[in-house]
Amino acid sequence: MSETTFTPRVFSGIQPSGNLHLGNYLGALKRFVDWQAKDVESIYCMVDLHAITVWQDPKDLMKSTRELCAGFIAAGLDPEKSILINQSQVPEHAQLAWIFNCVARMGWMQRMTQFKDKAGKNAQNASLGLFAYPALMAADILTYHATHVPVGEDQKQHLELTRDIAAKFNHDYGVDFFPMTEPVIEGAATRVMSFRDGSKKMSKSDPSDASRINMTDDADTIAKKIRKAKTDPEGLPSEAKGLEERPEARNLVNIYAALNEQSVDQVLADVGGKQFSEFKPMLADLAVSKLAPISTEMARLMGEQDEIDRILTRGSERAREITAPILRKTYEIVGMVPPVQL
Ligand code: AMP
Ligand code: TRP
Repeated sequence: MSETTFTPRVFSGIQPSGNLHLGNYLGALKRFVDWQAKDVESIYCMVDLHAITVWQDPKDLMKSTRELCAGFIAAGLDPEKSILINQSQVPEHAQLAWIFNCVARMGWMQRMTQFKDKAGKNAQNASLGLFAYPALMAADILTYHATHVPVGEDQKQHLELTRDIAAKFNHDYGVDFFPMTEPVIEGAATRVMSFRDGSKKMSKSDPSDASRINMTDDADTIAKKIRKAKTDPEGLPSEAKGLEERPEARNLVNIYAALNEQSVDQVLADVGGKQFSEFKPMLADLAVSKLAPISTEMARLMGEQDEIDRILTRGSERAREITAPILRKTYEIVGMVPPVQL
C-alpha cells in the first residue's frame, strides 16, 4: 500500500445536464460548502465532458454549465477560496483519462451499474464515452492527487474503481504516485429519492418535474411539490426503526434532517406521532427557507454571465498549476518523450 503521505485535497464534480436538484444539493453541494469551511484546498468541477456522454444540445449545455456555476456560488462556494472550473478548460483531465483507458480493464468497466442503468436495453447504441465515463472520473480526481471526494451514495462504485485504477497504475509502473482517494459519503440524505416513487432516486433526467425539487424552483413550487409528495397513510414514528419499509416517509424525514442539520433520531424525537398533513407544511417551510434564497441568488448570477465566465477561466488557470506538473510526471513514468527547448 501507499507509503507516501499526500497533502489533503478535495475534488468533486457535477454534470451540467440541467435540472440541478435537491439530491445534488444535499448529497453533494451542501457537503462541498462544509468542506470549504475546513480550509482544505478544494476543486469543484462542472463536468461538461461527462455530460456529453449522452446527447446534449450545445446551447443547453452552455446554459446548464453557467447555471451550475451560479448554483455552486449561490449555495455558498466562494471562488476565491475554492477553485471552480469547467472540465473542458483543463485539458489534463482528458489527457490523463486516455492513460487510464489503457490501465482500466474491460471487465471492470462492464461491472459499472451506472453504465448499465444509463445504457438501458440498447447498450450497443450507447456511446463509447458512456462506457469509458468512470476512467475520465478517475482522471478528474487523480490529476489533482485528490485525497477526499464528497459525493452521493450512487458514486461509491465509481470511487472504488478510481482506487483500483490508481493501484494498478502504481503497481504496473512500480511507483507510489497516485493516492488512494477516500470517498466521503456523509449526512442524512446521501440518497434522496423521487417524490413520485420512493424506490427511485431523485434525478435530473426523470420526465416528471414533480418527482424532484429543482434548485431553480420558486417558493410556491417548492411548497406545492412537497405537499403533493407521495407518502403512506400512517403517521410519523418516534424512532428511525419505524421508517423501515416506508421509503417515501423515510425520504421526507431524511430531507428534513439534512436541511435542518440534525440526525433522523433528533427529528423524530420532535415530530414523532404527527400526521403527514402536519409534517409536510413544516418541511415545506424549512425547504423554502433554505432553498429559496439560493434560487434567488442563482437567478441574479445568471444575469452576470461575463462574471461567471471570468470565474471559470480564472479557476482553470489556478487548476492547471496543479494538474500540468502531475500530467507531466505521469507521462514521464509511462515513458513518453518530453518536448525539449528549441
Ligand atoms: P450528477 O447529477 O449525476 O452529476 O450528480 C452530482 C452529485 O450529486 C454526485 O455527487 C451524486 O452522487 C449526487 N447526487 C445525485 N443525485 C442524488 C440523489 N438523488 N441523492 C443524493 N445525492 C445525489
Ligand atoms: N460521476 C459523477 C456523477 O454523475 C460526476 C463526476 C464526474 C464526479 N467526475 C467526478 C464526482 C469526480 C466526483 C469526482 O454524479
